[in-house]
Amino acid sequence: MHPMLITAVKAARRAGQVISRASLDISQLKVNAKQQSDYVTEVDKLAESAIIEILRETYPNHAILAEESGSSGDSQAEYQWIIDPLDGTTNFIHGFPQYAVSIGLAHKGVLSHAVVYDTTRNELFTASKGGGAFLNEKRIRVSKRAKLEEALIGTGFPYRSFVHIDAYIAIFRELMQKTSGLRRPGAASLDLAYVACGRLDGFWEFGLSPWDMAAGALLISEAGGLVGDLRGEPNYLASGNFVGGNPKVFSQLLQVIAPHLSGQLG
Ligand code: IPD
Ligand code: CA
Ligand code: CA
Repeated sequence: MHPMLITAVKAARRAGQVISRASLDISQLKVNAKQQSDYVTEVDKLAESAIIEILRETYPNHAILAEESGSSGDSQAEYQWIIDPLDGTTNFIHGFPQYAVSIGLAHKGVLSHAVVYDTTRNELFTASKGGGAFLNEKRIRVSKRAKLEEALIGTGFPYRSFVHIDAYIAIFRELMQKTSGLRRPGAASLDLAYVACGRLDGFWEFGLSPWDMAAGALLISEAGGLVGDLRGEPNYLASGNFVGGNPKVFSQLLQVIAPHLSGQLG
């Protein structure tokens, strides 16, 4: 394992300890709403500090983009860590066991290492650019399912901004009829990890943040899948609109989505 990935795994496991401990008594959680349907707990913040402390110790010159504390470090740095300390906070608050720690590293803007850690199942997904993707150190690959009608597709419902809700529902309606099933598990990083290991054949969501996607996107590409924005272009980290899947399902998802795109959504 590359030394940078080893450090990322150490940080994810440390955050995982914070999260697992807190999950034992969720009645004690202090929950704040950042805005409607967007929650943060002390656990998100503690987990994030634990991650940043470990990364800073080893790589003091790297830049950081983290959900709760924002951007820090040298903005000209070649390396940037992209961190979601607790992806799936709403699930966590409800004791619904689908949430994860997500840590990605970009080198000169290119994703190079990724960790997604599901503390509830002790599943550690890792990838390094050019080195493949792994689940608990075993190689993983995207599914081979070629037909959309046999595919299980993940998604995330709009919940903060509803400007594109009509386009979303139109795509949802069509995919509901053209696939073998749709799922909304509630932690985007883990949804992407599930595409990487073939549990899902594809995924789409609008309005994500870079920390929801960075690690999971590298997992999918290193597992032989394709990722992109709603037009299949590489702009997803900036636009927040994401499509991923095995190569066959990816292109069929883009075909379904294309007629619903407009100037503002793309
Ligand atoms: C959210 C989850 C959810 C996705 C949202 C994300 P958070 O992250 O990944 O699945 O639909 O778009 O914001 O707020 O729980 O870290
Ligand atoms: Ca998130
Ligand atoms: Ca989060």
